[in-house]
Amino acid sequence: MATLRVGADLFLGAPNKKQVNEIRNHFNALPDFAFEEIIGRGAYGLTFRVVEKLANGKTRRLAVKRALSKESESDLRREITWMTRLGGAAHIARVLGTRNVTGGNMTNTRRGLAQLFRTRSRFLIGIEGPVLALEYLENGSLAGMYKRMCRAKTVLPNRILWSFWVCLVRACIAMAYPPDRGINATPRLEQITAGAIPGTLEHGDLHRGNIMIGLTDDFGEHGPIPGLKLIDFGTAQTDVNTHTRATPGTSWNIREMSNMMLDIIAHRTVLIETNNPVTYKGYETGASEILDVPGGGGANYPTLDEDFRDLMARCLARDQNLRPSLPAILTESLARAGKGAASYGANQALETDEAIRDVLKNLIYDASTTLPSDPIEIGWVLV
Ligand SMILES: Nc1ncnc2c1ncn2[C@@H]1O[C@H](COP(=O)(O)OP(=O)(O)O)[C@@H](O)[C@H]1O
Ligand SMILES: [Mg+2]
Repeated sequence: MATLRVGADLFLGAPNKKQVNEIRNHFNALPDFAFEEIIGRGAYGLTFRVVEKLANGKTRRLAVKRALSKESESDLRREITWMTRLGGAAHIARVLGTRNVTGGNMTNTRRGLAQLFRTRSRFLIGIEGPVLALEYLENGSLAGMYKRMCRAKTVLPNRILWSFWVCLVRACIAMAYPPDRGINATPRLEQITAGAIPGTLEHGDLHRGNIMIGLTDDFGEHGPIPGLKLIDFGTAQTDVNTHTRATPGTSWNIREMSNMMLDIIAHRTVLIETNNPVTYKGYETGASEILDVPGGGGANYPTLDEDFRDLMARCLARDQNLRPSLPAILTESLARAGKGAASYGANQALETDEAIRDVLKNLIYDASTTLPSDPIEIGWVLV
C-alpha cells in the first residue's frame, strides 16, 4: 500500500491569539523567563520558544508545546507520556518539564503540586491543560537542512549519512527499549537490553520536520558531525492495526528512517512502496532509487557508499524476515560509521574532516535556524 509521509504536521491556519497570549503572559510574568516566539503549529499542538535565565548568569532556551484545543489535549498527553518514558535517551529531545493534568486546573491540589515539584516543572504551574517543555535544539530540524541541501545541490558526504543513520538507529533503540529515567534525566547512549523483549512503540510521524539537529560533543560517536534527536510523539502508538500495516513497531520505524535517508540522498521524497521493487541479490527491495540494478537509480549517485546502499536495501526488503534485526543494524552501522575518509578510496577527498566541516557550515551552522522549518513556513498573522 502506498504511504505518503506527510504526517500530522500540516499548517492549519493562524494560531488563536488567546492561546498564544496565555503562554506569552505566563512566561513574561515569571522573573527568570521570557517569551520569544511561536515556532510550530501542527495538527494538534502549538509550540513556542522561551528563554530562561539560569543561576550562573547564562541563559537557555526551551521549546514549550501546548494543545490547540480541548479535543487535541489527549494527543499532547500521549506525547508527554511517551517522551517521559523515553527520558534519558540521548537521541530523543530532553524533557525539561511537563504538566499532564487530566482536565481542570490541578495546581492547587496536593497531587498536582507534588507532581510538579517532583518533576521540577514549577515554571509550568498556572498554565491551563497539558504542557510539555523540551530542551531547545538550536540547529534546527533535518527539514531545514534538507531544503538548503536541495537548493545548493549538495551531495552529503557518506560520513554524514552514516552518522545521521546511526543517530536514527539509536532513536529506534530508545523506542524499542525506553530508558524510563524520567524528566530532566542526563542523556545516555541508547542500549539494547540483552534478553529483554523489545517494545512495539511506533513513532507514527517520522519525517524530517520531527528530527532535530543537536550538538557534536555528545558521546564521541559523531566526530565533527552533530547528533540528531527525535521529537513529536503525539501520534506514537503501540497497538498498530496489523490489517493495514504488516510491520509494527521497530520494523516500521526503521523502514521510515531508511526512507528518510533515501530522500536525503535523492533530494526528493522517494515513495518506496510505489517504486517498482527491484530484485537485488536475489530478494525484492524498495530501495531501487539507490541500487545499481536494472530498473534502479543507483547510477545517479556515483559517490554513494556501497555498504550504505546494501544496508538500505536490506532494511527496505519487501519480505520482513529478510530485514536485519536492530542489534545487527547497530553493530554493522557503528563499524562502518567509525571508518575514516581513507576507507572511501577514490572519493576520500569528499569525506575528510575539512570537507565535512564545510558542508555542515553551509547547511547548518551558517543558516538561520530560528525560523520555523519545513513544512511550517508561513508567517503567522495572529487572529
Ligand atoms: N526541542 C525543540 N527544539 C527546537 N525546535 C523545536 C523543538 N521542538 C519543536 N521544535 C520546532 O517546532 C516544530 C513543531 O514541533 P512538533 O513537536 O513537531 O509539533 P507539531 O505537532 O506542531 O508538528 C518542529 O518542527 C520544530 O521546528
Ligand atoms: Mg512535528
